[in-house]
Amino acid sequence: MEYFIFIIIAYILGSFPTGLIVGKAGYKKDIREHGSGNLGATNTFRVLGVKAGIIVVTVDILKGTLAAALPVLFHADVFPLLIGIFAVVGHMYPLFANFKGGKAVATSAGVILGVNPLVFVIMILSFLVILYLSKYVSLASMLTGIITIVVTLIMQETGLTIVTAVLTIFVIYRHQANIKRIINKTEPKIKWM
Ligand code: G3P
Repeated sequence: MEYFIFIIIAYILGSFPTGLIVGKAGYKKDIREHGSGNLGATNTFRVLGVKAGIIVVTVDILKGTLAAALPVLFHADVFPLLIGIFAVVGHMYPLFANFKGGKAVATSAGVILGVNPLVFVIMILSFLVILYLSKYVSLASMLTGIITIVVTLIMQETGLTIVTAVLTIFVIYRHQANIKRIINKTEPKIKWM
């Protein structure tokens, strides 16, 4: 029963459609109708600019962090990483945005931040290096997931490895269109790095 309650709260938390709210409230734009059409931080940066992008990436990360921290905050005997997974499910399939959400990247990173800040820092560094070299946010997101699996394996953090693998499967599954565009060489590259 305890698990069930935390899972529902995490799903609702993850469902908060940050990109949609920031776009509609601040810019009178639905970012799902512009750019890649994705309800995530990358598309917010692309469509609405840096300020909106920073707000969305921060809140989307914190959704995952807060969900993973809930069991600790409430002194509950449930596995924080498992609860975090459901915030990511909410982010991908939000209750408050017709179940059309983001690609799992920022909220997954937030879950990791909530349980192991060192791994989060490694993720950010890995993401930035791959982004710098490739200029593809999507490729940096997917490869960072795979690198994080290897990093947690080396650290012998078995629970974290399993959950990172699940989150990376989510990330890759949600990037199918990006993978096709990378192969076709039509995926947009970032211009500012
Ligand atoms: O965070 C999602 C990112 O990896 C790709 O987003 O909008 O370029 O499909 P987008």
